[in-house]
Amino acid sequence: MSDHPWWTSAVVYQIWPRSFADSDSDGIGDLGGILARLDYLADLGVDVVWLSPVYPSPQDDFGYDISDYQDIDPLYGTLAQFDGLLAAVHERGMRLILDVVLNHTSDEHPWFVESRSGPDSPKRDWYWWRQRPNNWRSFFSEPAWTLDAGSGEYYLHLFSAKQPDLNWENPQVRQAIYAMLRWWLDRGVDGFRMDVINMISKDPALPDGWVPPGESLGHGFPHFLYGPRIHEYLQEMHREVFGGREGTFLTVGEMPGVSVEQARRYTDPARGEVDMVFQFDHVGLDHGPGGKYDVRPLDLRALKASFGHWQRGLAEVGWNSLYWDNHDQPRIVSRWGDDGEHRTRSAKALAALLHLHRGTPFIYQGEELGMTNYPFASLEEIVDIEGLNYAREALQSGADACDVLDAVRARGRDNARTPMQWDDGPDAGFTTGTPWLPVNPNYTTVNAAAQRDDPESVLGHYRRLVELRHTLPVVVHGDFTMLMPDDAQVYAFTRRWQDTELLVLVNVSGEPATAVLGELDRWTDAELMLGGPDPTLPSVDSPAGSVGLQPWEHRVLRRVVDG
Ligand code: NOJ
Repeated sequence: MSDHPWWTSAVVYQIWPRSFADSDSDGIGDLGGILARLDYLADLGVDVVWLSPVYPSPQDDFGYDISDYQDIDPLYGTLAQFDGLLAAVHERGMRLILDVVLNHTSDEHPWFVESRSGPDSPKRDWYWWRQRPNNWRSFFSEPAWTLDAGSGEYYLHLFSAKQPDLNWENPQVRQAIYAMLRWWLDRGVDGFRMDVINMISKDPALPDGWVPPGESLGHGFPHFLYGPRIHEYLQEMHREVFGGREGTFLTVGEMPGVSVEQARRYTDPARGEVDMVFQFDHVGLDHGPGGKYDVRPLDLRALKASFGHWQRGLAEVGWNSLYWDNHDQPRIVSRWGDDGEHRTRSAKALAALLHLHRGTPFIYQGEELGMTNYPFASLEEIVDIEGLNYAREALQSGADACDVLDAVRARGRDNARTPMQWDDGPDAGFTTGTPWLPVNPNYTTVNAAAQRDDPESVLGHYRRLVELRHTLPVVVHGDFTMLMPDDAQVYAFTRRWQDTELLVLVNVSGEPATAVLGELDRWTDAELMLGGPDPTLPSVDSPAGSVGLQPWEHRVLRRVVDG
């Protein structure tokens, strides 16, 4: 087993610093706040902390618009504090990876300020400038090109106008980025989460994209999601940044639109690109043709088909990441669970479902408490640029205001960004000032203090899942077999490693369910590792040869395979 990299048995915890913990009462989370809460993370048992961007930034996209890659925004603290935090993470036996945004910078980054100074600037070619824009739509609804009045030329930005795209075709850009990454590794960081890293190679012709009927802007995806030089760049970056360096690192590439076949290439260790990718197939299953704000219900069979496909596709070569939540996604318990009556049960069921797949699980702050979406009452409460732009555009094109609010309530990124709920004191213990985004009113019952000593809580359950990954090799290495692929209520699978087999049964619904399994006898003497029927709830009868599952029940069994 020693030939398996350390991160195959690791669990990663994502901190979105602005909303994690505030130490200086300005209402915004900071490094001091994180430091004060590190024991909480150590107690949860996670191996790696992923810090969303803390670099100087105008905060147009809350830090994903970096104006200096080699410093800390005063909002969050200082470099010296960062070094102290890193040391404290290491002292607790954890590692820390930084979020690096390499596809674009802020328009206030000195590189862009220089580039924008005119067509003769030595850094003009560090970004994409054109006299005539193409028809691409940005990810934040607006056109992906903005006119620079000074030079009369347009620059490309796949996200906001304050996030101009770097031109990786220029070798100076690449060398500057590699030097910056080495600088952070020299400081002791343990790796990187790389923002939209599959977008760094673009077809230099920047062709127009397909325009959906009734729309004015085109989709440029085919021209930048898997560009002609993407593998070359990733291999070069890996060589230049990690080559010859002592130590063990983790790299995770965020890759919207990535296919399993592409992911296998990206994560094949022999190719030296990245260790794992974030794929988006499963989180797109409840999007309608209109995109993420076109809200559709989840069909559990589609989730099985998707996860099954990824489990099979990366079984021999490459590695999966596993996630429900992050700072861009709505809270899973509100999305595919039940954030009312069955909040705790559904949060636990969904956690067991995810974490017992093969891959490296990621926990997003508050997910381990079963935190829920925020009950936004009006569009006035939205602060995220993506949600704001979506709402503005939808309203302009005549959408009903109630429908727009519903969509933002279900899908808006602000849901994931409300302050972490530490206790039932004022503002959930997040700050003693005024929180920059309101605390979810359910903090009086949903909070870390209330769950800390309760093994039956969502937090206790996540702790147990982390522990299972650390102690049961079958969770890390086992083969994966999906069961009951056509059942719309029960998610069931087995894992097998050497002489151990796990059976995972999850009722993904608020109604009783029946799991019909072949060779059920094999499991008669199996050990219950997690979950199981709740004696305080009505038991579920089931025909012989099947298992009755209570609403949102999860059950994990382990057996030793004979012979
Ligand atoms: C992906 C990040 O996760 C998201 O928060 C950000 O808005 C975009 N990339 C642009 O950097």
